[in-house]
Amino acid sequence: MFDFTGRSVCVTGAASGIGRATAALFADLGATVFVADRDEEALNAFAAERPDRLRAVAFDQSELASVEQLAHAVGAVDVLVNNAGVLLYEPLSELRWADLSHVISVNLTGAIALSRLVGQNMVARGRGAIVHTGSQLAYNGAEFRSVYAATKAGISQFVKTAALEWGPKGVRVNCVAPGRTLTPLNQHLLQDPASHAESLKRIPLGRFGQPQDMANAFVFMASDAAAYVTGHTLVVDGGWILP
Ligand SMILES: NC(=O)c1ccc[n+]([C@@H]2O[C@H](COP(=O)([O-])OP(=O)(O)OC[C@H]3O[C@@H](n4cnc5c(N)ncnc54)[C@H](O)[C@@H]3O)[C@@H](O)[C@H]2O)c1
Repeated sequence: MFDFTGRSVCVTGAASGIGRATAALFADLGATVFVADRDEEALNAFAAERPDRLRAVAFDQSELASVEQLAHAVGAVDVLVNNAGVLLYEPLSELRWADLSHVISVNLTGAIALSRLVGQNMVARGRGAIVHTGSQLAYNGAEFRSVYAATKAGISQFVKTAALEWGPKGVRVNCVAPGRTLTPLNQHLLQDPASHAESLKRIPLGRFGQPQDMANAFVFMASDAAAYVTGHTLVVDGGWILP
């Protein structure tokens, strides 16, 4: 069920953190993986580690033309892990229009545009799996992350309707919602001892997530083991949102 030999996968945000770990796991499981990111240098260095399995495609998810180019380059993949994203950590009263627009254009507009374009290829073939990256912040509030949380809640809602429309055409659409995970995205929080200790107290499993924890969930959602799962957001947060 977890053998991806002969299958093609596209992972965005693959130059770092969760996307990189997920792309590496799919490659280990036999897939050919298109790794896509705006950080061309890190992306090319990663792809060079596994030239037999990884194909680098640079793109910028905030630009529709670039999203279209990526969709064209990857063609009819079996799996899309729609993961590239940015965090916006700004008090609501100081929120700047440019920052607001940017985080929405990457996390919501660009992500939806990519799923629409790649998903249409899957629909034409009658099969495929799309897995978005959401966040536990679709479920609970966190100060200074209002817009970021709104984009991730939007993704969880998007996958429900996309799954309704495309289920009858053989395409599953799901979401993995990470809790706090040890990646460069939230270094500033992880380096703040007070925030670090306070957050750890709230996690029943007693640790932050590792990129590998998320990669495992993406592979499950994309695999035949999840053949009857669609429109679902799988929260992978060590239990943070339970209380
Ligand atoms: N780390 C966490 O605690 C956490 C928690 C919940 C959700 N997430 C989500 O997980 C996903 C991956 O984040 P991560 O933690 O691995 O962070 P990361 O910063 O390590 O990786 C994000 C990647 O996305 C790329 N990216 C950013 N903007 C882009 C754009 N416009 N076009 C193309 N690529 C772009 C970056 O270059 C980077 O390689 C994001 O969607 C993030 O919102 C992370």
